[in-house]
Amino acid sequence: MIFVGSPGAGKGTQAAKLAEYLGVPRISSGDMLRETIASGTPLGKQAEPLMGRGNLVPDNLLIALVRERTAQEDCAQGFVLDGFPRTVRQAEGLAEMSDGEVSDWTVFSVQVPREELLRRLSGRRWCPRCQATYHVSSNPPKQDGVCDVDETTLVQRNDDKEEVVARRLEEYEQRTAPLIGYYRERADMVEIDGNRPMEMVFADLKKHVGVAA
Ligand code: AP5
Repeated sequence: MIFVGSPGAGKGTQAAKLAEYLGVPRISSGDMLRETIASGTPLGKQAEPLMGRGNLVPDNLLIALVRERTAQEDCAQGFVLDGFPRTVRQAEGLAEMSDGEVSDWTVFSVQVPREELLRRLSGRRWCPRCQATYHVSSNPPKQDGVCDVDETTLVQRNDDKEEVVARRLEEYEQRTAPLIGYYRERADMVEIDGNRPMEMVFADLKKHVGVAA
């Protein structure tokens, strides 16, 4: 399964719930890139300035990263992709990894109006240790400013600053939105209204994976 949507649409939130529900891994390209940055690898050094400006990281690097991750044993029964593919070239790379079998994919296209995206991104707080995500008002941690999972102090992501968010939204419109047409023609494409409470969105997703909410 694949989640496509603007920055802040709730892809990560819903992909994590769905992966747990189905008992398969969630593969988040953004989380993998942030891990490479934290561990100071050559890929991390290349990705950091691009992510800091809100630009996409080159397709060939992402395709290699996802190819390596999806070849691991825990992906044998399936996986949920969050944030990849993000360009038509990446979608083609993914199709090559699956021997061209695109029709088996379920693609969730999550739609949220711009004003709500900006509200979500400005209020997002993030755990730099386990990458859990919160929101100051719509999904607060139990204790203000502290991760529920490992008690690390929550921070704002560098790319959630206003000027970087504007660039990320432009990248989405120019380079990622065309994927919707690409998958509409080739895969099982499901449009999801993401502008609802998290549990309502998740109940909708569950219907599309074949189990009643
Ligand atoms: P990435 O980490 O993938 O960021 P993104 O796509 O911009 O998505 P976000 O994580 O901002 O949002 P989300 O849709 O997951 O929303 P979330 O669930 O967190 O990528 C970061 C960067 O890495 C990119 O800019 C690029 O540079 C690079 N990169 C990554 N993948 C790449 C690729 N494939 N190719 C090239 N470059 C790549 O929710 C947001 C907030 O809203 C949270 O606070 C949450 O609690 C809240 N929320 C969620 N759902 C709801 C709801 N229903 N109601 C109210 N609040 C909600």
